[in-house]
Amino acid sequence: TSPQYIRNFSIVAHIDHGKSTLADRLMEITGTVSFREMKEQLLDDMALERQRGITIKSHAVTMHYQYQGHKFELNLIDTPGHVDFQYEVSRSLTCCEGAVLLVDAFQGVEAQTVANAYAAMEHDLMIVPVMNKVDLTHARPDEVREEMEHTLAIHAEEVLGCSAKTGMGCKEVLEAVIERVPAPQGDPHATLQAMIFDAVYDEFRGAITYIRVMNGTVRKGQKIKFLQQGTTHEVIELGHFTPRRKATNSLAAGQVGYLICNIKTLDKVNIGDTVSVATGEPALKLPGYREPKRMVFCGLYPSDGQDFKQLREALDKLVINDPSFEFSPETSDALGFGFRCGFLGLLHMEIIQQRLEQEADIDLVQTAPNVTYEIVTKTGETMEVHTPQDVPDQGDIEEFRQPIVRVSFVLPTEYIGGIMKLCTDRRGTYVRTEYLSPTRAMLVYDLALADVIYDMHDKLKSTTRGYGTMDYELLGYEPGELVRMDILVKGERIDALSIVCDRRDADVRGRAVIKKLKEEIPRHMFEVPLQAAIGTRVIARENISAMRKNVTAKCYGGDISRKRKLWEKQKEGKKRMKSIGSVDIPQKAFLAVLETG
Ligand code: GTP
Repeated sequence: TSPQYIRNFSIVAHIDHGKSTLADRLMEITGTVSFREMKEQLLDDMALERQRGITIKSHAVTMHYQYQGHKFELNLIDTPGHVDFQYEVSRSLTCCEGAVLLVDAFQGVEAQTVANAYAAMEHDLMIVPVMNKVDLTHARPDEVREEMEHTLAIHAEEVLGCSAKTGMGCKEVLEAVIERVPAPQGDPHATLQAMIFDAVYDEFRGAITYIRVMNGTVRKGQKIKFLQQGTTHEVIELGHFTPRRKATNSLAAGQVGYLICNIKTLDKVNIGDTVSVATGEPALKLPGYREPKRMVFCGLYPSDGQDFKQLREALDKLVINDPSFEFSPETSDALGFGFRCGFLGLLHMEIIQQRLEQEADIDLVQTAPNVTYEIVTKTGETMEVHTPQDVPDQGDIEEFRQPIVRVSFVLPTEYIGGIMKLCTDRRGTYVRTEYLSPTRAMLVYDLALADVIYDMHDKLKSTTRGYGTMDYELLGYEPGELVRMDILVKGERIDALSIVCDRRDADVRGRAVIKKLKEEIPRHMFEVPLQAAIGTRVIARENISAMRKNVTAKCYGGDISRKRKLWEKQKEGKKRMKSIGSVDIPQKAFLAVLETG
């Protein structure tokens, strides 16, 4: 296909505004089998692979559409919607000339709408603004159009309306993509220059590399070179995603597709690398992507020490499919052998944890998440710290820095006061307020990332009755009044319970953590004192008094099945406990420090 008849685009939207539904609808209009249908169809043959932990990840699809006498090739490149994966959005956008910016006709412009629109503009993409869900009886198309014009520098008259659900207006969206999005530039006869924008692992074929050809042509059997990695490979197969892999003989400038080169592991493929020729003068390297930054860390420990090997195997497998996640072994006095894991954000952490529990069937003890800190010691050394346990003693610290983020909240104006109070309570710095319409506003604050990841999202939702949304970007590291707070159980410091917090919050946090722990830790045959301390200074204490009666005593004379149930329940509970010294600490207690932020 001549580049003239190719269009490369993404759909960007706030979560739930209908991106997947619209993508399915476009595939239906173009007679392409949809991801959802394909999943169902493939379910049977893939059952085994699924059990082995392979996920079907679809990132791109090629569709064909006849328009004004020409056959167009339309490449839709997928972007994730969540704030944690913003770097993936930017990576997909590099391969496109245009983006459909989708906005829910009832919800209107939300935090990620703004973030995604800016990202698309930064990449100089042609934006096709579309309002979805116009079928809703409570849709407010005029106001939403106005919001889009006001915040996104879009002309209201350019906004298309559609319903991805009923199909109304979707054909027009497709045709607008053809008309408004520029054709890719590039010379099919020049030296090969292609961008690697993703890679997935296939158990049978090895690494499957996703590329967008910028210049030149890549052919089956050709020897190619990954410029950054410096490796050469032979192209064994290449083709398009329809969304199934469909082999072709070549991919030329402007086209999007895949390469299979007998590459055994994913770490041999650098996302953002440039593919060129193996012999002769290679093309210029394309600008790469920023490495994804792990912002949130936590410890993961098997609740039964023997599962350590199993946990390592499961993590090894996960990282193959998701290189943005990282882990390294760590030892805790309290929890034994485990791993320190780094995530892009809190949602990413939840996803990984869920997959581990589901796919690998391992009982995990997770420690409270923390952000990365930068510490300058008195000796002038700067260290990056991923766990509170590694924070040096107060006397050795010259400067203690934490990540600061710029947070944008989009919300109905009546909740501005509530969110301002929330941010002020967390020592946020006010940046600005922008009105999207008379009833909706965008509020911008700079806040410590630690405060944002713990519970900002929940607080936002409860303060705005679910109507507020947020997005954030990293600004950098700034010195803070931070301290490491330790927790002592029966006089022993439990390293996995240490947290970093603002000095001015320490007393309140300490008391709250101790109180929570008192609820979570069961009574023992002896008294268990609990303390919170900064260095040697105890800031809070409580006692769990000794137990007097046997638990089963209550059942005396009762029927035996009830007794058995009680025992089983205790056994079940035991499984998720850690014995530290002589004290049993349930898994939930390790998250106690979280709920008191
Ligand atoms: P994520 O994949 O979570 O980012 O969401 P998404 O943006 O892909 O949204 P998705 O397509 O899953 O749609 C979200 C919800 O909106 C679903 O329940 C859809 O059925 C519904 N929906 C999508 N388009 C329309 C529409 O045009 N009209 C109506 N009434 N509902 C729609």
